[in-house]
Amino acid sequence: MLNLAILISGRGSNMEAILKSIKKKKMPINPAVVISNKPDAKGLKIAEKLGVKTEIVISKGFKGDRWDYDKKIITVLKRYGVTPTNGFVCLAGFMRIISPQFIRKYKNRIMNIHPALLPAFSGLEVQKQAVDYGVKYSGCTVHLADERVDTGPIIIQAVVKVNDNDTAETLAKRILKQEHRIYPEAVRLFAKGKIKISGRKTKIS
Ligand code: GAR
Repeated sequence: MLNLAILISGRGSNMEAILKSIKKKKMPINPAVVISNKPDAKGLKIAEKLGVKTEIVISKGFKGDRWDYDKKIITVLKRYGVTPTNGFVCLAGFMRIISPQFIRKYKNRIMNIHPALLPAFSGLEVQKQAVDYGVKYSGCTVHLADERVDTGPIIIQAVVKVNDNDTAETLAKRILKQEHRIYPEAVRLFAKGKIKISGRKTKIS
C-alpha cells in the first residue's frame, strides 16, 4: 500500500478533498500523516477530525538552510513509512520551496497543486496576476514537483473562465472548486500506477 503524506501551511481544503476522496473511492492509499510548517494551520484540526495523524515542523525562525529543514520533514516522513520507495507526498498549499535534495530523494513522488494554468502565472497571488493581466481563462494545475518552482511535469489541468467582473477572490473561489476535483483524481491515478512519465511529459493510461 502507498503511504501518503500531505504537507500544508493553512486552510487545508485540498488536503480535506484528498482525504475524503481516498475514503469514498476506497483508493489503495494509507493516509499516513499530515505535516504543517505552521502550528496554527486550520487544516491540522480537519485532519485530526478525519482520523489522520498530524505533525508540525515549524519553519519560522528555523536556523539552517532549505535542505536542513527538509531533512527534518524527511525524518517525520520515514517515521510514518512514507519512504522514497513506497511513499507519496502531496503539497497542498504548502507555502515553502522544497530543496532539490528532497525532490531528488523522492523523485516523481511529490505532487503539487497550483491555482493557475501553468506555465502561466507561477509564484504567488496568481489569481490576482490572472485578473490583472486580463486573461479570459485561468484554472489550476496538478504537477509533479521538480527542482525548480512550478515547472514539473503536468498531470491534470482544469480551465476556469475569467469573468469581466471577477476579483482575485471570486476567481480563486471558482478555481478552488476545480482544485478539489482534479487533485484527488491525480492522486487516484498515481496510486493506480496510471501515470507514465517521459521527460517532462506525462501520459495517463
Ligand atoms: C490553494 O489554492 C493552492 O492551489 C494554493 O494554495 C491554496 C491552498 O488552499 N497553492 C499555491 O499557491 C502553491 N503555489 P488549501 O490550504 O485550502 O488547500
